[in-house]
Formats: sequence, C-alpha cells, structure tokens
Amino acid sequence: MTVVGAGNVGATAAFILATREVANVVLVDVAEGLPQGKALDMMHSRSVCKFGPTVSGSNDYAATADSDVVVITAGVPRRPGMTRDELLAINAGIVRSVMEAAVCASPDAVFVCVTNPLDVMTQLAWRLSGLPSQQVLGMGGVLDSARFAYFIAQETGAAITEIDALVMGAHGDAMVPLPRLSTVAGRPVTDLVSADVADELVRRTVFGGAEVVALLKTGSAYYAPAASVASMVEAILTDSRAVMPSCVLLQGQYGVSDVYMSVPAVLGRAGVVAVPELPLTADETALLQASAATIAEAYAALAIG
Ligand code: APR
Repeated sequence: MTVVGAGNVGATAAFILATREVANVVLVDVAEGLPQGKALDMMHSRSVCKFGPTVSGSNDYAATADSDVVVITAGVPRRPGMTRDELLAINAGIVRSVMEAAVCASPDAVFVCVTNPLDVMTQLAWRLSGLPSQQVLGMGGVLDSARFAYFIAQETGAAITEIDALVMGAHGDAMVPLPRLSTVAGRPVTDLVSADVADELVRRTVFGGAEVVALLKTGSAYYAPAASVASMVEAILTDSRAVMPSCVLLQGQYGVSDVYMSVPAVLGRAGVVAVPELPLTADETALLQASAATIAEAYAALAIG
C-alpha cells in the first residue's frame, strides 16, 4: 500500500500500519529525502519492534505501482487561527497533482483521503479519479467519533473500551455528534448525563481539532488522525466489513445526494461495501442535512458542484 505525504500524519500512519503488520508501505512525498529518511528510520526500529512488513520511501510514483490502498495525506496542515476552509485552494492543487499520478500507477486501488478540508478534498479526489465512488473515501468520522469517545470517557469515568461514540456529517465546525446514538456499555449517553453536559461534550468534540492546533502552535493533530486512517486501511485490506463512520458519496441516504460526508459505512476490500441508513430523529436528520449544505457550498469554489 501507499501513503502519499510523509509528514506528521502520513509517517505516523505508515509506522502504525507497519508495526501492526497490516501491510508493506511505500511513503511518497515531493520533498527529496524525506520519505526515504523516514522509511529508513522506521526500518531501523524493526528489530526492536519486531515487525515483518517493510516501509520504503520515494519521490516517484513508479514505486507505488499496483497498490491495494493509497492514503492521501499530502497537503498543508491547518495553522492556528486558520479554518479548514482556508486550506481549500492550496490543498486542492496538491490533491489534483497527487491523484493524477497515483491513479495512473494504481488504477485498482482504494483511495482514502485525509487532506483537509476533508469532505471537499474527498469529493475532488473522486471526481479526478474517474473511478467508481466505492473506491474513493475519506477519513473524518472515525477521528471525530474517537474524540467524542474520549470526552465521554472523561465525563463518565467509563473505560474507553466500553464507549461506542458516533459523529456524522462534515469534518469541521458543522459536524454532527450524536449523543443519543453514542453508548457507554450499551446505554445511550443521553440516559447517563444531563442535556447541558451532553451539549458540552458535543462542543468539545467539535472544537477538538482546534484545541490541539492551539496548543501545538505549529501544525495540527496527527496521532489520532493517523491511528484513525490506519484502522480504516486495516478494515479495507482485511476485508473486515467493519462499520466505520467514513466520508462517502451519499446518493439519497439521509435525504442527501451528491455530497461526500461521514456516515457509518461498511468497509471491505472493494472500499465502501455498503452505506446502510441509520434511523435518525427528525432533528438529527435536519442537523445532518444542514451539515451537508455547508459542504456543498464549498463545491462552488472548486467548480465541482
Ligand atoms: N505530493 C506529495 N506530497 C506533498 C505534496 C505533493 N504534491 N505537497 C505537499 N506534500 C507533502 C509535504 O512535503 C509534507 O511532507 O505533504 C506532507 C504534509 O505533511 P505535514 O505538513 O506534516 O502535514 P500533516 O500534519 O501530516 O497533515 C497533512 O492531513 O490532517 C490533514 O489538515 C491536515 O491536510 C493536512 C494533511
């Protein structure tokens, strides 16, 4: 498999995938020496960490030929005070150049976009790919749900392993954390905390990424994003059929059409195997549709509406 972008998210994802023995990884980047150096460093850890797969680095897509999965993390990260949407113009140009080369080298791959603004970049990647939408998806909902799970665990004192949290919609300020559909040992969060506390958990989740950006001062979050995309890649490569909140093309589900955004999707070797529709309340559906509308607005800037 290939990871494009050997920066913080890409290199961390490559290391997680190799140490978990999911796949051999080729790291690709425009920066000369960067993917090669990081790959060599990871290979030096092999006898200590005891993993079999290899990590190699290249500036040339020939090294990525016939990959099963291509993860795209190439881009400029969000800086303090910068919104995800301000990244749009710069990262659209990067995603365009990456897709042209990566699809040519691996036309049968499943492409997983991580570059922000995620929902728009995933739609753009799909349009540029010429591939069926099942083969192109994005990582947003897994990360947002992981952050929601963390805040629920903090509030309730429950073990993180007992929490099943769900965030749907845009990967940004318009995301839709769903306390009613998030559970602690099977019990809905709405049964366990007051409405005010649930609102605060939602608020912290929505600003979870910005909180990290503000603390780091340069760059944006990468451990949780890398772990999230690695879990999606593992589900795809092992054909696990795990249901993960993934940025997929909606074609009528939840009353939304022609928009890429995160909803629970069945992941397998073909990519997006199915998008079963969860029963939502009228209020939840309205929030999700409003979230979709914010994504669709950004399409105009890229002329992909
Ligand atoms: N082709 C390949 N790699 C590229 C290209 C390109 N056209 N343009 C930039 N890159 C590389 C950079 O050289 C850099 O190594 O992408 C890498 C990005 O790494 P970082 O700057 O460390 O950014 P990171 O924190 O990894 O975030 C990457 O993921 O979560 C999102 O918002 C984040 O869009 C950003 C992306």
